[in-house]
Amino acid sequence: MKKRIYTDPIIAPSEITPEAVFLKRRDIIKSVAGLASATAIDAAAGVGHDAEAPLSFTADPDQSLIALRTPYEAVTSYNNFYEFGTDKSDPARHAHAMTTDPWTVKVGGLVEKPGELHLEDLLSGFELQERIYRFRCVEAWSMVVPWIGFPLSELLARFAPRSEGRFVEFKTLHRPSEMRGTRSFTSIIDWPYREGLRMDEAMHPLTLMAVGVYGKTLPNQNGAPLRLVVPWKYGFKSIKSIVEINVTDKQPATSWQQLQPTEYGFYANVNPEVDHPRWSQRFERRLPSSIFKPNRVSTLLFNGYAEQVAGLYEGMDLRQYY
Ligand code: MTE
Repeated sequence: MKKRIYTDPIIAPSEITPEAVFLKRRDIIKSVAGLASATAIDAAAGVGHDAEAPLSFTADPDQSLIALRTPYEAVTSYNNFYEFGTDKSDPARHAHAMTTDPWTVKVGGLVEKPGELHLEDLLSGFELQERIYRFRCVEAWSMVVPWIGFPLSELLARFAPRSEGRFVEFKTLHRPSEMRGTRSFTSIIDWPYREGLRMDEAMHPLTLMAVGVYGKTLPNQNGAPLRLVVPWKYGFKSIKSIVEINVTDKQPATSWQQLQPTEYGFYANVNPEVDHPRWSQRFERRLPSSIFKPNRVSTLLFNGYAEQVAGLYEGMDLRQYY
């Protein structure tokens, strides 16, 4: 079995959450088990979130990160998924209405072999790996999330992108009957939610297609059954519940850029030196946080992944291409 090793040296021990002891116990069990059986692990650790199905995956080789994760409850209850409403609690309350089985992702555009992927291909057709990533929202809150997934590059390779393909465009499911936020008269987005990456960003080994979190399939509020995770970019790039992927030769229109181009750019690279027009990006609130324990940490260039990704932007003015 091929193992891709990557290291994440930047999260400091001081960022360790109070759950450290509990999580450590869970992970000792996991490492003894080799391939994770999340149900058994959770039963042993007394965790009761059984709605999602366990996945088989190669555990993150960097064990030092495991204790730093944001608790499952925070990851799955404080969400942005405007298709279900604009309040952080709306997705957890309403996303269960979305049907995710059957699910089809159409892959086309400038590819040699256009085609489709179905739910079973996503869950068992790729070698699943755990990746514990920092996740930074443009709104200045952040988490550390143990995603389960596979590199986007592996998905794209199956459809053989043509050499003229310079960008990749993604679209979310648009099904108003199951998505109350898209029916709302206050809805501001031109649905479906869309995102895009440059081809070299899409092919980067850190760019993940996630199908799970915390050892189980994604809950709907986190973008079931398939979402993008680009850890060095603001969270709005990490589009949820994807049904269409197209390789293009032009930079695709993206939802937040269309809505407010002076505030949200195509690149959206995490950068403490480039403020949002209405707030500073120097610090972030690492969840879980409260008024009494704000858990404020410094924001890192490219969200701490500069060593791996800065080369993608060599010679580019990051203020102009925000
Ligand atoms: N994808 C869709 N389809 N709709 C959305 O509203 N919100 C984005 C991104 N992906 C969004 C989306 C934003 S702003 C963020 S910060 C992340 O999802 C939040 O991911 P999380 O809820 O899993 O933390």
